[in-house]
Amino acid sequence: MTDKIRLLFTEEQIDARIREIGKQITEEYEGKEIVLVCALKGASFFACELAKRISLDVKMDFISLSSYGSGKTSSGEVRMLKDLDFSIDGKNVIVVEDIVDTGRTLSYVMGLLETRKPESLKLCSLLDKPSRRVVDIQADYVGFEVPDLFVVGYGLDFDQKYRNLPYIGVVEND
Ligand code: IMP
Ligand code: MG
Repeated sequence: MTDKIRLLFTEEQIDARIREIGKQITEEYEGKEIVLVCALKGASFFACELAKRISLDVKMDFISLSSYGSGKTSSGEVRMLKDLDFSIDGKNVIVVEDIVDTGRTLSYVMGLLETRKPESLKLCSLLDKPSRRVVDIQADYVGFEVPDLFVVGYGLDFDQKYRNLPYIGVVEND
């Protein structure tokens, strides 16, 4: 590890917040089945932990999108690298993302999934960076709001590194 990482949220804080969101979703969707759509790769850690904290029937599916090149700059262009395995027609769908930054990726995804006629469609993001938004999109469930800093850990990467950090931090030197 060459970069210095400043701690923002501890593993315990993240775990506690995920339990809260899981409880909220469990209450709001009482008696229903949910499809969690995890956006690879960043949201994978969050989606798995969240699924464990929802006391309902949960199915999981995965999509893979590319909106960023390498490094920290957005290309602005969204591509679908892997689509859903199953139909979401008539399903209660919650898209699980790692972070909403400019909002471009999520605006594309939500628009696309909406055309597939789910019963309901919501967005749950571990992190929200509202100061960077260029597209008007708001997550229905947010773990933590973060300032305009590049964050890593708990699934979030910098050039594919640091996803495996059990906490969330800021890359300090570069
Ligand atoms: P958006 O389309 O600009 O909202 O970008 C969303 C995607 O960019 C996220 O799913 C992340 O993969 C990536 N991203 C945005 N900000 C950060 C960050 O601070 N750290 C790591 N990845 C980020
Ligand atoms: Mg992502």
